[in-house]
Amino acid sequence: MSLLVRSIAELVTNDPSLGDGSALGLVHDAALVVEDGRVAWVGDASHAPATDRVIDAEDGTVIPGFVDSHTHLVFAGDRAGEFAARMAGEPYTGGGIRTTVAATRAASDGELRANVARLRDEALRQGTTTIEVKSGYGLSTADEVRSLRVAREITAETTFLGAHVVPAEFEGRTDDYVSLVCGEMMKSALPHARWVDVFCERGAFDGDQARAILLAGMGVGLLPRIHANQLTTGPGVQLAVELGAASADHCTHLSDADIDSLAGSTTVATLLPGAEFSTRSPYPDARRLLAAGATVALASDCNPGSSYTTSMPFCVAVAVREMCMSPAEALWAATAGGARALRRPDVGYLGVGAVADLSVLDAASFVHLAYRPGVPLVRTVLLNGEPQ
Ligand code: NIG
Ligand code: FE
Repeated sequence: MSLLVRSIAELVTNDPSLGDGSALGLVHDAALVVEDGRVAWVGDASHAPATDRVIDAEDGTVIPGFVDSHTHLVFAGDRAGEFAARMAGEPYTGGGIRTTVAATRAASDGELRANVARLRDEALRQGTTTIEVKSGYGLSTADEVRSLRVAREITAETTFLGAHVVPAEFEGRTDDYVSLVCGEMMKSALPHARWVDVFCERGAFDGDQARAILLAGMGVGLLPRIHANQLTTGPGVQLAVELGAASADHCTHLSDADIDSLAGSTTVATLLPGAEFSTRSPYPDARRLLAAGATVALASDCNPGSSYTTSMPFCVAVAVREMCMSPAEALWAATAGGARALRRPDVGYLGVGAVADLSVLDAASFVHLAYRPGVPLVRTVLLNGEPQ
């Protein structure tokens, strides 16, 4: 079965061998053909081949599906009161994580599953076609496994974050909790996870503890990623680079050495502007990272505490307005950058052979993602070539 997407005023391929030769590989007056869920042809609309089915983009823009490489969708409850208190001047400390742990443990499987499905659908409607989901609000072996099982029902990109914080019942016994995470909990999580993550931060896990947890995960075949340098300049970024992590996430407080290390590595700097927006914190210095040559991704960090948004268009708009990324840099970071942060060579672009995950925008140009903030521009989403 073949499908033609025609009348595309602006097509973003993220394939620099196509179109204008920029990183976005922009093709104007374009068409795209999908066969068996993959991009089979891209080119000038006037040369488009005949196909079984047709979607008319009506002179809109087509972009690769967003690759949201950092979310915490498995949780129950909300923390609107904590958000309101922050907007009245309270700082964000991560202390609310335990509130969500209590609510998540008390929720039924059905409630967790319904919440994940709701958020996944919300993200899809805004153009997210690949999504990473972490555990981390269970923090017991049974609750972490349950979280990962629920996450696996909607994505292959699941991350074991048993080391989110030390749960209340282990207060004052962090080493015992690290042993549990590295042992029984890791072993039980393994069949349900691709990645292992740690919140390396003052008040959560220090550099040595984070190293031990990530090495334990790598020892059983999980791939490392890390919550690094969110609230303070700490050892997280250096550890991510040392271990060859796919991504160091947050990167809000970076030293010059951190930036140099990221630039000289294969570790992606994943920036989460929704978190700075919702915690009223200084934004990460995307310009310094880009100038140094680091690979930058944008992700939502969707969670009920620091960033309760599933909207990648919102993150793109904030990255442009507040972090001085160009619209092209921000869109690339939210698509191809996310794919690199998940080591997924098959998504995040629309060259021939790519998975046909894309959005048709009701917009004359991709720039509108930032130029028209808060406006629902996504008209149609294709997932594996199928309209959703
Ligand atoms: O990535 N920083 C740690 N974890 C989440 C926040 C979790 C929460 O506040 O519930 C984050 O921002
Ligand atoms: Fe996070």
